[in-house]
Amino acid sequence: RPATVIAPSILSADFAALGAAAAAMTAAGADALHVDAMDGHFVDNLTLGPPVVAALAAATSLPLDVHMMLSDPGAWVGRFAAAGAASLTFHLETCYADGGASYDAATPTRAMTDAELAAARSLCAKIRDAGVRVGVALRPATPVHDVAALVASGDVDMVLVMSVEPGFGGQSFMAGVLPKVAALRAAAAGGPGLAIQVDGGVSPDTVGAVATAGANCVVAGSAVFGAPDPPRVISILRAAVDD
Ligand code: DX5
Ligand code: ZN
Repeated sequence: RPATVIAPSILSADFAALGAAAAAMTAAGADALHVDAMDGHFVDNLTLGPPVVAALAAATSLPLDVHMMLSDPGAWVGRFAAAGAASLTFHLETCYADGGASYDAATPTRAMTDAELAAARSLCAKIRDAGVRVGVALRPATPVHDVAALVASGDVDMVLVMSVEPGFGGQSFMAGVLPKVAALRAAAAGGPGLAIQVDGGVSPDTVGAVATAGANCVVAGSAVFGAPDPPRVISILRAAVDD
């Protein structure tokens, strides 16, 4: 079983009280905190960086699962690792020759070239060499073929399948990405040990389909922090994923 089954996203917490949010999530039974780092380039939002990760690491013993929505994730690996990240997830699109600029939510992305795949492999190695778990994230229109190759070669610990376009919490779940989860789980390389995380619009209403498709890790922001009883939401999510 992966280390981080239920990871509430602090993007939906009160940023003026992150220490209290971490304590509340520990008490509620979370396995990790999902930390959304956005740089205003890869996505149209600007959130936090290594100093906030370091402050969280000092405030909580929960593993910090950092989702790097950054155009140049490699430049930040060392600093996030030093700040105390337990896992670092980069977007595969950033390894395309154009840095992902031509990504179009309505059109499945083409297969990567050998040079692009090599760039992704070397970023995986950089993260692993920094001593943290390696995650690779896919935007909704990015296919699984290329990340499956990275999984098969043993470069990746976790695949994050985005079920919203990255950038903001509180968006609606896109069920259309679930066949990608199932395809990854079905691939030989996606055997039972692979951590497959789904992020975006996950709630008690959508987690059943997510788990059935084969995900064993979920991120939830607004569904947890916006609930009157976050521990109850976490236990519902856990029951679905553990099933
Ligand atoms: C979106 C972030 C998500 C976000 C999820 O870009 O990657 O982690 O916090 O929030 P909800 O669960 O509200 O969709
Ligand atoms: Zn995220």
